[in-house]
Amino acid sequence: MHSADERPLLFLDSGMGGLSIADAVRAHLPHHQQVYVADYAGFPYGTKTESEIVDRLPALLAQLAKAYNPAIITIACNTASTIALDAVRNIVDIPIVGTVPAIKPAAGISKSNIIGVLGTQATVRQPYVANLAQQFAPGADIIHYGAAGLVTLAEAKMRGEIINMGQLRSAIAPMINHPSFHAMDVLVLSCTHFPFLREELAELLPRGCQLIDGAQGIARRITTLLQRSNQLQRGPNITKRPDLFISTSDIKQLERYSLALISRGFSQTAFFPFAP
Ligand code: DGL
Repeated sequence: MHSADERPLLFLDSGMGGLSIADAVRAHLPHHQQVYVADYAGFPYGTKTESEIVDRLPALLAQLAKAYNPAIITIACNTASTIALDAVRNIVDIPIVGTVPAIKPAAGISKSNIIGVLGTQATVRQPYVANLAQQFAPGADIIHYGAAGLVTLAEAKMRGEIINMGQLRSAIAPMINHPSFHAMDVLVLSCTHFPFLREELAELLPRGCQLIDGAQGIARRITTLLQRSNQLQRGPNITKRPDLFISTSDIKQLERYSLALISRGFSQTAFFPFAP
């Protein structure tokens, strides 16, 4: 049965990357309906300016909050979170969970104190990220790199395409050529698209280098917020509403991703027009 006030969990990213977060959340909270929004009309975020992101995200999320009345909104994107989290929280009156680079856990496991932070260009230049490094990894040598090409490759992988390892290597070549690269023992995947390239990336990294991301931490945070607000759905008798996948662009292009969507249970798609 559905409880009368059941509200979905809403996730937003520029494209398919945020599914790495939504997957972890589904594993923790299988009885909660997911509404996933791919803002393809604004894709990609990582090459945009700060003002383009701040002009877009709060207005888009305010409209989505009104349309879907979610219990929690997760900005399943490091670029949008490190730039616009406060701006969104100022205008949307629903708990907002952001996705920011997992530098704190990385500092806890690194032995060499050489930590990679691989994100989009926009994410790696944010003061938010520099503050995380200063606060949680003060003695570490952080190798930052913004790799737009990896976002495109992750989207291709989600369409079922084979990844060209030469292209992948070129997309992260400046990181590989960094003088401390061979001593790097943790790489923080600081873009939600990148966990989908985990195996391919691991082939190019120093032996033993661990790859980490924030998805499990976000799933735990969402569980805690639902518990606190008495909205946690558990138990064998709960039938959730079907998960919904939304695009702000032509939904015909979603056909190319149909295997990725159907295997996750997104049985419905919808178009959400948005012009800032
Ligand atoms: N998935 C997004 C992130 O976590 C960004 C991808 C893009 O550049 O649009 O940063």
